[in-house]
Amino acid sequence: MTLNVFFNPFLYTIKFYNLMKYRYCGKSGLQMPVVSLGLWHNFGDADDFGVATDIIVSAFDLGICHFDLANNYGPAPGSAETNFGKILRKELASHRDEMLITSKAGHEMWPGVYGDGSSRKNLMASINQSLKRTGLDYFDIFYSHRYDGVTPVEETMQALIDIVRQGKALYVGISKYPVHLQQKCYDILKEAKVPCLVSQYRYSMYDRKIESGNLECAASNGSGMVAFSPLAQGLLTDRYLNGIPEHSRAARATGFLQKEQVSDARVEASRKLNEIAQHRGQTLAQMALAWVLKDERMTSVIVGASSVRQLNDNIKCIENLEFSSDELSLIDGILKDPALSF
Ligand SMILES: NC(=O)c1ccc[n+]([C@@H]2O[C@H](COP(=O)([O-])OP(=O)(O)OC[C@H]3O[C@@H](n4cnc5c(N)ncnc54)[C@H](OP(=O)(O)O)[C@@H]3O)[C@@H](O)[C@H]2O)c1
Repeated sequence: MTLNVFFNPFLYTIKFYNLMKYRYCGKSGLQMPVVSLGLWHNFGDADDFGVATDIIVSAFDLGICHFDLANNYGPAPGSAETNFGKILRKELASHRDEMLITSKAGHEMWPGVYGDGSSRKNLMASINQSLKRTGLDYFDIFYSHRYDGVTPVEETMQALIDIVRQGKALYVGISKYPVHLQQKCYDILKEAKVPCLVSQYRYSMYDRKIESGNLECAASNGSGMVAFSPLAQGLLTDRYLNGIPEHSRAARATGFLQKEQVSDARVEASRKLNEIAQHRGQTLAQMALAWVLKDERMTSVIVGASSVRQLNDNIKCIENLEFSSDELSLIDGILKDPALSF
């Protein structure tokens, strides 16, 4: 439980938010904390509800007021939204206006023809279900989770526009769209006066693909950019430096990180990066997050965490987001091995 019940909530909030740094999301008036929390793993029915509660409440106390959900997060799909809604009502109910809560639709949610993809049918049904599961009146941002390879972007973007006009979300975003369709999405949304607030892509020292187009496309269109999996699912932390620990994402049957992805080449590179981090007075996780945030076009990193300890570690990245040119060339030298990239 937060201390909010014992202290003036306003003063309490000010005190803790001062530790956080915020950036404007693209050309909008909306600020985001530079560190956000994602609920892809660790918040489903397969996970410990008490730990999940502690992580969410601690995140909010640290000024991490941005929580990133999707319809299919679990397992079971949907359970992360249901659990988040329960925690919100029990622990943080009076703080809704201080929180930025997002969801998405577009990946498989249930078996069947309308349970997957980016059609209007799927997005409209999905946001209604997500609102019901979380108990929210609206999402702050609703994303198209992906281009599904078939649905015309005009159809998907029109669904997003209508979701805003119906008051079910305040803003919209896109995720993982290839660069030629990314521009088309921005154009359609801009024309309808529902601009694309934010674009969400995978970005880390081990996955720099967005540097060759998506990042610049977002910036030049005034869309913010948030990076998901900035720690490469744990590979850019001390988690796997000495093998694969029990209960880690790579060890868990429900984890998305495969054991084979914890390759010798990546572990060796992470050890070398860890040495640079130590010289900077940071943990490897802190340096990996700072490395993403050194680019001012990056609005926020969406981290995952399986414990409050990890969150406390990660948040300290904000104490040093600067890199010397020597540090950057040392890091680039380590990253040039193509075997490292996902
Ligand atoms: N738009 C999309 O398609 C998409 C796709 C994927 C993710 N996302 C979003 O991005 C969020 C973050 O993704 P992610 O969970 O892959 O992010 P990540 O931050 O790269 O990885 C998180 C994992 O790294 C480990 N970790 C975190 N901090 C650590 C620390 N200080 N020390 C040691 N280990 C640490 C934990 O693994 P253990 O569990 O092993 O402890 C944690 O679960 C998701 O929750 C979701 O909201 C979006």
